Amino acid sequence: TYVVSESCIKCKYTDCVDVCPVDCFREGPNFLVIDPDECIDCTLCVAECPAEAIFAEDDLPADQVQFTAINAELAKKWPTIVARKDALPDADDWAKVKGKLDKLER
Ligand code: SF4
Ligand code: F3S
Repeated sequence: TYVVSESCIKCKYTDCVDVCPVDCFREGPNFLVIDPDECIDCTLCVAECPAEAIFAEDDLPADQVQFTAINAELAKKWPTIVARKDALPDADDWAKVKGKLDKLER
């Protein structure tokens, strides 16, 4: 499965949503996750993300492996998002910031 990692937090560009053939993105207040039960590993979303937040589960950087469990957990409670929308207001400022897991709103 594919996994949304930390870079998405406080950015939520949503370019990824438009290309997903199976609508497996779920939306929270300042982050998206991929439902691991729905993702078909098509890879299309990876190149679309301006924050380079999306990785194959097996390719996650070592400091991002916890996001596999975070995606699985939050996919169960967040609603589906099927269309692109405006990014969060300060997305460009937050895209390159590291260590922002504590900013994730559940
Ligand atoms: Fe959707 Fe494909 Fe990305 Fe999985 S890899 S989330 S199926 S676009
Ligand atoms: Fe997040 Fe990138 Fe999609 S910032 S909303 S994973 S395009």
